[in-house]
Amino acid sequence: MLKPSLKDAQKRTRKEVLVKTNEYILNHDLKALGKNKTYYVKTYGCQMNEHDTENIKAILEDMGFEESLNMDNADVILLNTCAIRENAHNKVFGMVGRVKTLKETINPNIILGICGCMAQEEVVVDEILNKYKHVDLVFGTHNIHRLPQLLSEVMNTHQKQVEVFSIEGDVIEDIPVKRDSKYKAWVNIMYGCDKFCTYCIVPYTRGKQRSRHPEYILEEVRKLVRDGYQEVTLLGQNVNAYGKDLDTHYGMDQLLEDVAKTGIARVRFVTSHPWDFTDSMIEVIKKYDNIMPYIHLPLQSGSSRILKLMGRRYTKEEYLTLYHKLREALPYSSITTDIIVGFPGETEEDFQATLDVVHECKFDSAFTFIFSPRVGTPACRMQDDTPLEIKNERLQRLNHVINQYSREANEKYQDKIVPVLLEGVSEKSDDHLMGYTDTMKLVNVKAPKEYIGKIVNVRITDIKTWSMDGELALEKVTN
Ligand code: SAH
Ligand code: SF4
Ligand code: F3S
Repeated sequence: MLKPSLKDAQKRTRKEVLVKTNEYILNHDLKALGKNKTYYVKTYGCQMNEHDTENIKAILEDMGFEESLNMDNADVILLNTCAIRENAHNKVFGMVGRVKTLKETINPNIILGICGCMAQEEVVVDEILNKYKHVDLVFGTHNIHRLPQLLSEVMNTHQKQVEVFSIEGDVIEDIPVKRDSKYKAWVNIMYGCDKFCTYCIVPYTRGKQRSRHPEYILEEVRKLVRDGYQEVTLLGQNVNAYGKDLDTHYGMDQLLEDVAKTGIARVRFVTSHPWDFTDSMIEVIKKYDNIMPYIHLPLQSGSSRILKLMGRRYTKEEYLTLYHKLREALPYSSITTDIIVGFPGETEEDFQATLDVVHECKFDSAFTFIFSPRVGTPACRMQDDTPLEIKNERLQRLNHVINQYSREANEKYQDKIVPVLLEGVSEKSDDHLMGYTDTMKLVNVKAPKEYIGKIVNVRITDIKTWSMDGELALEKVTN
């Protein structure tokens, strides 16, 4: 048993990051292990976790397992978890309880595994070991490639397996992938994070910032182009800092340019930290039509005092300067953000400063959260006197303003013709398809299914707060 250690996860050393291409090993026995058996993976959290699940699915299928769309009749159930806020924890433990019932009533041989960011938390793994005896397997974000060996131990010995490395991490290049979509793909460009914002658990669950070497990224994108993909999203907690940990001067600006030059129809990237956004990146985004005019630029707070306590490394003024520079350089773009309310010590005045920034920036949309204390982070130990009631009330006031601006931003699209990558059938009705504009607006379009996977021009006919309706248009895009 190898449990995670918070103390080790907090460390950063100068240890060299190794690029490993022979870590994923599947011998003949492992390839047959899942024959006539099924798996079900439930994913929580961010795009990085969604992409990890695509790796996990491919590994399980390499082992002969087939995907079950229904958890109730799966032989192996994996929960790929997120640790970012307490409610993410609660959801997972709710699911762990449901699987217990399944084991007790339907099939005692179900194998339940927990992986992802919660598995990297020492307190969580202790809790699982003490209270949730029916969990058979725990593995972390650094050893996904070891899933065949770990699962085989559980299946052959019926012994619980716990293997979580609390390391800064290497870059493992040979993990297979089963992508959810045939049209758009996630591509990791870096792992981990070294920003250590005081509220955030990610640097402890994902290890130190490690950029992938450009040749691996570009090869992956070129293959996606050959396979007919229309869109790639370059993934990292801090994509603008791409390359800073490599021994070259190759940065995000160059990577974006080289990815754009592969000819893929659409390039996106998340998440941008305001700290590392360079002018040269802005130039590249402007220069290439296939780099989408959409930027997610987390603000977190509009109060410079709180930003300092958060360890965000920018002031309100610096954020606003960058914001206006982007809007000026890319007038057609959409800009979205993340905001936390109720950080320890946040006063009404601090909160007002956040509202002021929102009024000034008129974001296209925002994810808003109440601060959630995470064990092991500095903010968890800060004095926090604001009652939850007030935090809730601030969140509601903030959401009200955010929604108003989202709608306003969408209204600018009325009667415009915009490009939309149609991804699948709309939830709204069977004869509608759904997709996203270049600026990442969700659009429902009445269109036949043959259009799935194509980028089409759509005339926007109706505006809502979180989506728009449109119809196929033959005319050229207007923006
Ligand atoms: N790397 C990204 C953020 C990833 S986490 C960045 O730096 O912008 C996604 C969002 O979750 C964060 O932007 C933040 O708004 C929110 N978040 C992170 N930790 C949180 C916490 N402890 N409580 C509440 N929200 C949190
Ligand atoms: Fe967390 Fe900050 Fe890193 Fe984003 S930049 S993942 S908020 S520590
Ligand atoms: Fe959650 Fe881990 Fe992503 S904590 S937000 S799944 S990096």
